[in-house]
Amino acid sequence: MINSLELRKKYLEFFGQKGHARIPSAPLVPENDPTVLFITAGMHPLVPYLLGQPHPAGKRLVSVQKCLRTDDIEEVGDATHNTFFEMLGNWSLGDYWKKEALEWSWEFLTSKEWLGLDGARIYVTIFAGDQDAPRDTESLGIWRSLGVPPERIFEYGKDKNWWGPAGETGPCGPDSEMFFETGREHDVKFGEKCHPNCDCGRFVEVWNDVFMQYNKKADGTFEPLKQKNVDTGMGLERMTMILEDKESIYQTDLFISLMEEIKSLSTRYHERSARVIADHLRAAVFLIADGVVPSNVERGYVLRRLIRRAIRYGRTLEIKGRFIGDLALTVVKDYQSLYPQLKAAAEKISRQLTGEEEKFNQTLEGGLKEFEKLAREEGRKKISGGEAFRLYETYGFPFEITQELAKERGLEVDEMGFRESLRKHQELSRAGAVERFRGGLADQSEETTKLHTATHLLQAALREVLGPHVYQKGSNITSERLRFDFSHPQKLTEEELKKVEDLVNQKISQDLVVRREEMTRAEAERLGAIGLFDEKYAAKVSVYLIGPKGAEFSKELCGGPHVDQVGKLGRFKIVKEEAVSAGVRRIKAILE
Ligand code: ALA
Repeated sequence: MINSLELRKKYLEFFGQKGHARIPSAPLVPENDPTVLFITAGMHPLVPYLLGQPHPAGKRLVSVQKCLRTDDIEEVGDATHNTFFEMLGNWSLGDYWKKEALEWSWEFLTSKEWLGLDGARIYVTIFAGDQDAPRDTESLGIWRSLGVPPERIFEYGKDKNWWGPAGETGPCGPDSEMFFETGREHDVKFGEKCHPNCDCGRFVEVWNDVFMQYNKKADGTFEPLKQKNVDTGMGLERMTMILEDKESIYQTDLFISLMEEIKSLSTRYHERSARVIADHLRAAVFLIADGVVPSNVERGYVLRRLIRRAIRYGRTLEIKGRFIGDLALTVVKDYQSLYPQLKAAAEKISRQLTGEEEKFNQTLEGGLKEFEKLAREEGRKKISGGEAFRLYETYGFPFEITQELAKERGLEVDEMGFRESLRKHQELSRAGAVERFRGGLADQSEETTKLHTATHLLQAALREVLGPHVYQKGSNITSERLRFDFSHPQKLTEEELKKVEDLVNQKISQDLVVRREEMTRAEAERLGAIGLFDEKYAAKVSVYLIGPKGAEFSKELCGGPHVDQVGKLGRFKIVKEEAVSAGVRRIKAILE
């Protein structure tokens, strides 16, 4: 039997043999791209390279990437859904195309030397074609040539067989997916005709080969990319489930010790709640290790929600006392050999979780009081959908808990109403999530690119005027303005602001040249380049240098893109300076 560790090894080895360079997992928090909340797929850190920039490691890449997706949080606890997961992926950056991609996928899945799955249980899907892109007859022909019979090849439209862009704009394309037939009975409630995307549980999607050949533009049209790329993704947890012949990902070696520990702590065990705890805790551990701190906004809020859900589900299992800080150490133990930074952060992780648990226990009491108040009202027979949603949103009560509490009081809960409120809320937050992608790595408009280069000049100027303690703490660029957060203990004086602004404008007027160089981390460090060095065990890094060779004004690790001459920027103007938090200041600036 192949376990998760062997699967990782085999995947990297197989694609290594096919000429792919191994790249490390990027952190869950996107580097140099604070406009995006989390890395959601292996392709995400590669957007600039999919758009045509040369990657320092070459044209064929392979990785195991940490990912976080919260869209399906309500489904976590079923057999296959996760928030945090690891994605095995291989890429062709303008190199090989469909034939190699599909043939290698098939070989890896079915060859006895690799995964050895029964080819007769693999179903595949292709893009059916629409007004934006033609039917993928090429993939159809390749699958047929590999011996997949027509009755196991299905065609779908964009809703199923198209991937990307990650935000509103950026690289995307038709895809071809592989499904494994589990042998489970088709559940008739899903209708008579069962097919790979029917959701009855009989099929598990295991791999997606995306043919990224389009760039979706802001006006909704698709233009061909400079190069044709392949982007593939295989969920490690799901494939392990199949290889270990388990009914759910939570029974695989990836979860087993955590699940057992949860079981041993609970005095009233049920599997689904335990799964939610296991998933959320694993996500929380990796998020904290990557520097996210629980809070009420953005990334911190997502983390807080995961932690609170885990604690609430702990109540349904009647786990006594504080538990998540200790449980986190089990996750650390399970993953520390693959992710050494978890071990280094173990104490911090456990401490933050325990702190959060203490805080939440206070909110929880408030929520329980709120519930009591509702339940005691004269003549009340029902908790409305809106009330259940308020308990969910304000006090972090999962719906099941409200239901359970209500049942004890002989009250009903309007589940439909709750789902409706939740759906409305999710639509809003999804719209918000899409918004956040604007100006992200996928946004390569001219204005954004200029502001990106201006941000490098700004950081260099701040360091020159204020001192080398100045360091980037965050950056957010839209096509209208840049926003740069940096470490500095006090408000900048008018004079300091003017000096910084003048220095940037002086460099712009000198029309300094922007160069990009690839070098080893050690070389970059020796050169005094600034930027995020951590977790880049890739052999080479990309550094942007602004100014004459040997006398550069700015040297910064960055994936780009940038303008080639700073003279193109126009006039730089600081429009605002303010505090973000203790020791962190924020500057907003524009180019005129
Ligand atoms: N980017 C593709 C996915 O996430 C491979 O499915």
